[in-house]
Amino acid sequence: MSALKKTIPLYLSEEERNGLRAAGRFNAQLMDFLRPHVVEGVSTDKLDKLAYDYTIQHGHKPACLGYKGYPRTICTSVNEVVCHGIPNTRPLKDGDIINVDITTIVDGWYGDQSETFLIGNISAAARKLVQTTFDSLWIGIRACKPGCTVTEIGRAIQAYATKGGFSVVREYQGHGIGRDFHQEPGVPHFPSLNSNRDILRPGTCYTIEPMLNIGTWETRVDKKDKWTVRTKDGALSAQFEHTILMTEEGPEILTLTKNGPQEGHSFG
Ligand code: MF3
Ligand code: CO
Ligand code: CO
Repeated sequence: MSALKKTIPLYLSEEERNGLRAAGRFNAQLMDFLRPHVVEGVSTDKLDKLAYDYTIQHGHKPACLGYKGYPRTICTSVNEVVCHGIPNTRPLKDGDIINVDITTIVDGWYGDQSETFLIGNISAAARKLVQTTFDSLWIGIRACKPGCTVTEIGRAIQAYATKGGFSVVREYQGHGIGRDFHQEPGVPHFPSLNSNRDILRPGTCYTIEPMLNIGTWETRVDKKDKWTVRTKDGALSAQFEHTILMTEEGPEILTLTKNGPQEGHSFG
């Protein structure tokens, strides 16, 4: 995301951390609720409605709805869609991969996470892409130590993705998160000069959300809807995302779900 806000204070107190923990916990609970519905035949519109209703019924706010004019509650990015896919009436079909990205606001604090799902019988190439993308997120998380630079994340993710034969999207990044959706620091999934200067002090909260592609890293935004981001070559893309709080002890994953894929999960 470009134009990140400089939010003060940059380093969160224990009370503020607890606000973010609650937001991450609810967002993860919403993902746990949605997961069984992400199956062949369901439309992404239906998933969007389920997410909206669940959020409202629990007294919280969908963060994406109305954000810079975004029209829905969740992003659903199918196959060659990299991110920001808008839910529609198309039913999910056998062989699809779909990323579901959800962000909610709980008492003013944001929680943000996404998972890619395999629908039915998946090609070996798609499965390897999804596995490598999932593993790269965890490699990024484990690269974080209190006081390290943000670039350690991108360095680890890019090296792992490249070794697997995949490219890393450069135009969309992870981000600081708190009382704003997207704030400093930017978290590129490749090494960069700027992130070499940003330090992950305890009390920093940020997302890691690598997007890996089978073909080129380059992307195109849909000319008509101005949101849907696709790979330039039409090849498959996958993504996983967690919200992470850096503490004195190391990274704490705020959006880890009970029922979702854990570190080391195998997609078969
Ligand atoms: N959830 C996305 C992220 O990880 C942002 C979606 S913004 C939207 O940063 F407007 F497209 F919803
Ligand atoms: Co994010
Ligand atoms: Co997200």
